[in-house]
Amino acid sequence: MTKIKLLPAEGQDDYTDALKAGTYLRTVNPAGFLVRLAKDAAPASTQTLGQGLSHGEKDYLDGGVTVEAEEIDDALTAAFIGGLKLGAYSAGQRRGDFKEHPLLHGEIQWGGDAGAALILADVQTRIMALVDAPANKKRAQDLAAWAVESGKTYGYDVRVLDKAACLEEGLHALLAVNRGSEDPAVLIVMEYRGGGGEGKDTIAIIGKGVTFDTGGVSIKGSQNLHLMKSDMGGAAATFGALEAAARLKLPVHLVGIVPATDNSVDALSIKPSDVIESHAGKTIEIIDTDAEGRLIMADGLSYAVKHFSPTTLMDVATLTGSAVRTFGYVCAAMLSKNEALVQQFRAAGDACGERVWPLPPWDDFAKGLESDVADVKNFSGNPLHGATDAFKFLENFTHGHARYIHFDIAGVALKQGPYAKDRQATGFGVRLFVEWLSRERS
Ligand code: BES
Ligand code: ZN
Ligand code: ZN
Repeated sequence: MTKIKLLPAEGQDDYTDALKAGTYLRTVNPAGFLVRLAKDAAPASTQTLGQGLSHGEKDYLDGGVTVEAEEIDDALTAAFIGGLKLGAYSAGQRRGDFKEHPLLHGEIQWGGDAGAALILADVQTRIMALVDAPANKKRAQDLAAWAVESGKTYGYDVRVLDKAACLEEGLHALLAVNRGSEDPAVLIVMEYRGGGGEGKDTIAIIGKGVTFDTGGVSIKGSQNLHLMKSDMGGAAATFGALEAAARLKLPVHLVGIVPATDNSVDALSIKPSDVIESHAGKTIEIIDTDAEGRLIMADGLSYAVKHFSPTTLMDVATLTGSAVRTFGYVCAAMLSKNEALVQQFRAAGDACGERVWPLPPWDDFAKGLESDVADVKNFSGNPLHGATDAFKFLENFTHGHARYIHFDIAGVALKQGPYAKDRQATGFGVRLFVEWLSRERS
């Protein structure tokens, strides 16, 4: 049993001189750690402190940890404990020398209630594992199987539309992207009916499930191409939101829609100049096959509106390099014409540490997507304001929804951190959605 004792930043104790705020010390007798919280500690930074200890000291941790906290806010202790759990994650499960971290399935005891923090950390860890998984281990069917299994375990409905059902349903844009693939596309439909939430307020999240993005015929360069395994980060965030809502028993009616396929090169692949159909009935001229995310998302959005009439329509996608160039790895881009939603999500993002920042949703940006041969084209042909253009494209397929909000997480789905050599999954989106769903909304 490892003992971890949390001390307040300004505490006068036996270790006042030895232990600086925001750091920890390993002790031998009893075997454990002394941790001093940072000055003005917030939950997000306290979670990081726990994560750092857990990751860095795994050789000195047992499968059982007891946490003692003196004069520390319960929310901070819970966040620290969530961090301990997060620090147990590693992407190395397919390495021959993989050794499971003792806290991945170990127990963390504390006098207070860290239940919610532990559940969130566990969901986030499962989502990170999915995003970090190699593309050949998460084909469209594998994503569907993950969702089915999660729904069965945690009590929410999951239906999978196979390729034939997608055709029947008219998901022509999803099927167009799937033309170059060996793996049939699927549409994964998840529904969680939380007690008290049903009927009042249906919230839909659509997540981009491109299991690998080669760019298609408009092929990408090979530098960092391996990271395009994370092009299902939006799907993963959607899975996480559903699983977390169910496990935390949030009183909401939540729908998750994930169109899933890879974007590959083949004789059958769509080509620039092709005109394709879509679920919403609009025709699309393909200018660039690398703008595939917006094609499958268009069908996901239209399907959600037609089948669920959600009160709030949200989507999350690793959609554009433009979002990366605009905000780097600091925050996600957020676009909506609904100012109230934008404000709510800014506040939710600040609170949970997954920050989002708005870009202008104005109709001025729609002009560049007008096509001579179809209702809309999938790329304006110019390199300016690409994240906004993607949003203007998607708006065409929301059937004029009044509470639609879009999150482009291309920059934040992966990050270079202290816990891995290459960029690693963040699980971005899970906490943002859970935070927003847990708050008072109108
Ligand atoms: N999956 C990419 C976006 C992306 C880029 C995600 C970098 C993560 C990191 C998306 O499908 C894409 O290729 N977008 C193109 C669109 C362009 C051709 C209109 C882009 O942003 O360059
Ligand atoms: Zn692409
Ligand atoms: Zn993509």
